[in-house]
Amino acid sequence: MQLDPPPAIDITAERRVILALNRVTKTFPGVTALSEVSLELYPGQVTALVGENGAGKSTVVKILTGIYQPDGGQIEIDGNAVRFPTAQDANAAGVTAIHQETVLFDELSVAENIFLGHAPRGRFGLIDAVAMVAQAQDILLTIGANIDPHTKLKDLGIANKHLVAIARALSIDARVVIMDEPTAALSQKEIDELYVLVEELKSQGKAILFISHKFDEIFRIADNYTVFRDGTLAGHGAIADVTEAELVKMMVGRDVSQIFPDRVANIGQEVLVVHGYDHPTEFADISFTLHHGEILGFYGLVGAGRSEFMQALFGITRPSAGDVKIDGVSAVIRSPADAVGQGIVYVPEDRGKQGTITALPIFANVTLPSLGRTSRNGFLKLAEEFRLAREYTERLDLRAASLDTDVGNLSGGNQQKVVIAKWLATQPKVIILDEPTKGIDIGSKAAVHEFMTELAAQGLAVIMVSSEIPEVLGMSDRVIVMREGRIAAELSGGDLTPETLVRNAAGI
Ligand SMILES: Nc1ncnc2c1ncn2[C@@H]1O[C@H](COP(=O)(O)OP(=O)(O)OP(=O)(O)O)[C@@H](O)[C@H]1O
Ligand SMILES: [Mg+2]
Repeated sequence: MQLDPPPAIDITAERRVILALNRVTKTFPGVTALSEVSLELYPGQVTALVGENGAGKSTVVKILTGIYQPDGGQIEIDGNAVRFPTAQDANAAGVTAIHQETVLFDELSVAENIFLGHAPRGRFGLIDAVAMVAQAQDILLTIGANIDPHTKLKDLGIANKHLVAIARALSIDARVVIMDEPTAALSQKEIDELYVLVEELKSQGKAILFISHKFDEIFRIADNYTVFRDGTLAGHGAIADVTEAELVKMMVGRDVSQIFPDRVANIGQEVLVVHGYDHPTEFADISFTLHHGEILGFYGLVGAGRSEFMQALFGITRPSAGDVKIDGVSAVIRSPADAVGQGIVYVPEDRGKQGTITALPIFANVTLPSLGRTSRNGFLKLAEEFRLAREYTERLDLRAASLDTDVGNLSGGNQQKVVIAKWLATQPKVIILDEPTKGIDIGSKAAVHEFMTELAAQGLAVIMVSSEIPEVLGMSDRVIVMREGRIAAELSGGDLTPETLVRNAAGI
């Protein structure tokens, strides 16, 4: 019998591993999510976990927090093998996570959400509500969140909900803090506060596992990296010893250029004319035109009113004034159904909540809004549904075992691709994409951009709301900059530069 050589002993305290995964394997029916992956976390250091959509990152988080059990390999804490049969066991061992899809309760208060399952208790073992609110307030303040702990969760926006999830993770005095794409739902100001918080956690000696698709933040806050590719370990090391291009190559197994697709825009007739859209609080006096084959970018700071305007245009909310013409004909849009009927579709930013039915398979989700095209005399034509679903999901580079897979079992990024596919399958005249590549890995991002280009070439008019300057500049034929609910500038050609975008968005 051959024994493994004994592990080398590293005497420097920083290299002492708090938590390790040792050759962990996890399979689901038809999918090997993880195959013998290893990972080490050190006190006072941030380890970035990177990989394409579906590479297995969130699965690791769930294994480390007792939500899934590994099929093979082990979890070690301070060198000792441990098991986490439940989430409570992981918490008790000092491991806490902010999950990609936060599990919070709308009907409970902020304080109750933070302390659910570990509330401070007074005499007779009853929950001490006063202490709970006070402690919740303290934690919220340390993360710079200005939220009343009494507020019902359902009354908060997505960014604040996310801050509550972060506060919840911190309310457990943990040695290991895991953050699964924590900045995806936050504004720039909140992101900066989160970075300060991460520094604070580091200085307290906590080990941090940080999952992100954003390379700028990985290079800013991480000390180490681990790369997964298709459920296997593709590389690990110190951030200081690696370049962005090298990381990308480990992730996707090939060189990826971040260059945007070359396109010669073929801009046709006006398709959409919006005139004088007003809203009592969110936006005012929005007028513009959009042409067949055009990609119109909407840039602005978070809170500039871009998404609120798009929701009004799609009939989710009502403007107080304004009218719309589609192909020269006045259109009445009082509901999303009206909008879809007139050829306008909207892919929201908060795709998790608004986008899919997780208990239905991929193909059914994709074809849901297109049923008119796939049903004959009330009977669904299954083959036709599959064909439609296959066409759109393949072009968006969606990774799944099969089109029968329930959407709830897909990785976060792949769920987003299902939402985009389902609206494209309706063959709209105008598609509004709100932050289309947020949460999408770098290789698939290029696929999404390529697809947008092809669609525009076929005459589809695209409105792209994006806060990423390279994406806005790389994809748009024309850009409308919004500031405080109003159009601050309309830019095209040589006027489109990072400086003009930022200056107009900030009003300087
Ligand atoms: N409960 C489940 N049932 C079946 N398959 C699953 C389940 N959970 C995850 N998977 C599959 O395991 C693989 C890894 O998914 P995971 O969510 O870990 O990816 P990820 O790296 O977090 O991706 P993303 O960047 O999109 O969030 C995917 O193929 C996914 O479809
Ligand atoms: Mg994930």
